[in-house]
Amino acid sequence: MERETARKFLQAKSSLRFYRHGRSVERTAYVLARKYGVDAEKAALAGLIHDYGKLYSREELLRLAREHGLLLHPLMEQEPALLHAPVGAWLLERDLGLHDEEVLEAVRQHTTGGAQMSMLSRIVYLADFIEPGRRFKGVEEVREVAFHCKELEKALLAAVEMTIFHVIQRGRLLHEASVEFRNSLIMSLREDSLEENHGEAI
Ligand SMILES: [Fe+2]
Ligand SMILES: [Fe+2]
Repeated sequence: MERETARKFLQAKSSLRFYRHGRSVERTAYVLARKYGVDAEKAALAGLIHDYGKLYSREELLRLAREHGLLLHPLMEQEPALLHAPVGAWLLERDLGLHDEEVLEAVRQHTTGGAQMSMLSRIVYLADFIEPGRRFKGVEEVREVAFHCKELEKALLAAVEMTIFHVIQRGRLLHEASVEFRNSLIMSLREDSLEENHGEAI
């Protein structure tokens, strides 16, 4: 699917605020993808449309999820805000005829993350967190790591940890995919540092 087509479609359907967020994530994902050697076109498209599910009411998302077997976790019924990711991916197939599985998977995983995430999904997760419209405390440090260091995983770890803190602070249920995502990042960062130390010893 052409990004231009998706842009026009979104612009016609959404508010200016919603559209701006999509465009910012699109641009951020593009830049990050180029930096980290990922397909930038796909990353930008996934960034642009990642919140498509938010154009539907929670009631509608819940109804669709029940009807089409998209309630993959019981927590989803308790925290319907999370539904815009998996149901959004389903809606993108239905409404836009988007069938690129990598792009759809990035949309599905953008709220919780997960232990198994492609580089494309990771880029979209991070772009959603650091796009220029985000102004919360600590975001600048994550941007700094994402754009100026070579370690995508460090930036992702900071992002998922801040998200987990936020969920806890607000008394919400925490999806284990986020915990698994955090653990997988820590394990791979540990492996990297072991390799580095081993390299130095030789
Ligand atoms: Fe979202
Ligand atoms: Fe978003």
